[in-house]
Amino acid sequence: MKLFIDSANIDEIKEVAGWGVVSGVTTNPSLIAKEGKDFKSTILQICRIIEGPVSAEVLSLRTEDMIKDGREYSSWHPNIVVKLPMSEQGIKATKILSNDGIKTNITLVFSANQALLAALAGATFISPFIGRIEDTGHEGMSIIEEIRTIFDHYVFDTQIITASIRSPQHVTMAAKIGSDISTIPHKILKQMFKHPLTESGIKQFSEDWQSLSSYKVPQGV
Ligand code: G3P
Repeated sequence: MKLFIDSANIDEIKEVAGWGVVSGVTTNPSLIAKEGKDFKSTILQICRIIEGPVSAEVLSLRTEDMIKDGREYSSWHPNIVVKLPMSEQGIKATKILSNDGIKTNITLVFSANQALLAALAGATFISPFIGRIEDTGHEGMSIIEEIRTIFDHYVFDTQIITASIRSPQHVTMAAKIGSDISTIPHKILKQMFKHPLTESGIKQFSEDWQSLSSYKVPQGV
């Protein structure tokens, strides 16, 4: 499973790029607005930091406008993926953009049937939002299992991006199910490094090594 970062914060993206294990970026209008900077220049800056798919979301609600915006975004950089909402308009636009060879990511997916529609429209990626399902008091990960089963059954190429991740456990579960990608907030990516036994183990090894290097070989031996 690949790891993407779900962020529009340049410092966060630079930091994780340095690890060499994050291979794409997803943004959404809320994440872009949080940074308060120009949309196009932010997306292009991200494309220069991480060499992989960078999702940029259309804001229009009409099919024709989504197609126009999608074509424009994709002309900015070859790694840009046009993110479109799960709706009749979004699916129609996805079909047309896919036929043009433009990469797409259908967002706000909350059911297996929505994923099926997106795959039939030729979407490159779909983004089921796990955390937001769990916010409503329902179990979230089973939708990833359902979509994986359907996509494998009919050999759809559409890749599953498990999104709206709220914990490192979500990442593990997504990997076990066979999600193609997890897109993860910076804070959760950092938490994935942590384990108390790793930290105490590093401390212990370091202390033991220090005591060895202070050992002096006796004269004449
Ligand atoms: O990639 C989707 C993500 O940005 C939504 O996450 O935490 O706002 O539900 P969240």
